[in-house]
Amino acid sequence: MANSKYEYVKLYEVEDEVMPPNIIVVRVDGRNFSRFSEAHEFVKPNCKKALELMNECARVVLEHFPDIIFSYGYSDEFSFVFKKETKFYQRRASKILSLIASFFTSVYVTKWKEVFPEKDLSYSPSFRARVILCASVEVLQAYLAWRQNECHLSNQYNTCLWQLIKCGKPEKEAQEMLEVEVCVKYKDDCYPIKRSKRRVTIVHMENIASRRFWNDQLYLLKELGHFSKDVNKTKTEYLKSFQYESRLLLSTWIVIRIDGCHFHRFSEVHKFEKPNDEAALNLMNSCAVGVLEEFNDIVFSYGVSDEYSFVLKKESQLYGRRASEIVSAIVSYFSSMYIMKWKDFFPHKEMMYTPYFDGRAVCYPSSQILRDYLAWRQVDCHINNQYNTCFWMLVKSGRTKSASQTYLKGTQVQDKNELLAQLSGATDYYNKLPPMFRLGSSVYRNKEEKKIVGDKEEGGSIDNICEKVVIEYCNIIEPSFWEAHSATIQING
Ligand code: GTP
Ligand code: MG
Repeated sequence: MANSKYEYVKLYEVEDEVMPPNIIVVRVDGRNFSRFSEAHEFVKPNCKKALELMNECARVVLEHFPDIIFSYGYSDEFSFVFKKETKFYQRRASKILSLIASFFTSVYVTKWKEVFPEKDLSYSPSFRARVILCASVEVLQAYLAWRQNECHLSNQYNTCLWQLIKCGKPEKEAQEMLEVEVCVKYKDDCYPIKRSKRRVTIVHMENIASRRFWNDQLYLLKELGHFSKDVNKTKTEYLKSFQYESRLLLSTWIVIRIDGCHFHRFSEVHKFEKPNDEAALNLMNSCAVGVLEEFNDIVFSYGVSDEYSFVLKKESQLYGRRASEIVSAIVSYFSSMYIMKWKDFFPHKEMMYTPYFDGRAVCYPSSQILRDYLAWRQVDCHINNQYNTCFWMLVKSGRTKSASQTYLKGTQVQDKNELLAQLSGATDYYNKLPPMFRLGSSVYRNKEEKKIVGDKEEGGSIDNICEKVVIEYCNIIEPSFWEAHSATIQING
């Protein structure tokens, strides 16, 4: 497809490939889970059902992504270990951590009702994620020892143990209830019978970083290597590297772009209308509104098809500008809402399987370049939409898919417009399509005057200016849009 003059903005995207032989570990961690567990009345201080839900999510993650071969979790966190030689998403850190955060969240929301049939989710739960690089199996061992030590050290463990004992549980049983879960993936050939799905085993282990446990797991030995000695104390320099996270450049616009993973298949399975499904696009937009309401630092967002770009203000200090935290929190929250809101937009369609998204963060140093980025996305929307509209009209008129593709090869905008007019019998057919299809969706805050009722003592109602998140379908390439909204969407300098 044609290139636009805005494509240069792609040069601002930086590579973040994790070089071998580093072992990739992704840790997901509940976002504001103390509030979430409070709101959903989790049993204090440890809720067995909530832990079971976490374990179930981890099990599904291991089943879904064959390159993840081990995971360890407690409380609201889980660490996923990839096999050493993984080529998963070309080892790109941001892609990997975002899609694991998204998938984990989607499964969490989907499985919620199975674990808590008596409780509705009162709002969307979300998780943050980060990548931890382990330069050798020795470092991985230190990492696992550290996480398990954190688990043992946590007050929750002891408090809960004490509570259970107080309630009459024998100590051993109480301990077992609180023991952490470890998922280990075995190869198919561990089975006498060949099966297509790999087996995920959940074990409770006192010490996962011990040689005694690890070196007995043949699959782990093969993919990651053995532990040569037991660890007593994690080295300080290792701890520093586990905690290190890079920050995005100051005084730049941060754009988080999320994109549906394998949405080509997802839209086929769910029979989305071609080329544009109004309900599917409205669902995406509604999730974007939710994201803007949740994250105050987002000043503008633009969506098309299965992707959304969220622009954070230049001065944003969200998560100390740590890229992985920002990307994962936004993509996870979006995914959570996508699952929760599905029924509102598709009341008669079952969700057949769990969708998920990936995300990345890119910094743009000036408002002009940021606007060029947004223009690039809108030009892309136009080019794809015009092509797809022609393509599906040709298919509907009786051509095969490959004949339609060949027919459209090398055609220009004018040719496509003429073709559409000819096939539809309507002049200017393309420009009469709904603006949401042609222009994509812009979501931002608008100031509006609102009358609100004041205190009784103060008497009467008072006028107030309040901000409301709106969805518009407009041309964001033209400067006029930005000039007209300069007071509300502050994208200058
Ligand atoms: P990855 O993002 O690389 O995982 O691939 P993908 O399959 O998600 O494809 P990509 O993101 O490049 O493109 C999005 C795809 O989603 C489109 O090609 C369509 O197949 C599908 N899609 C998105 N919106 C709609 C819609 O409204 N209707 C239909 N029928 N399909 C849609
Ligand atoms: Mg996609």
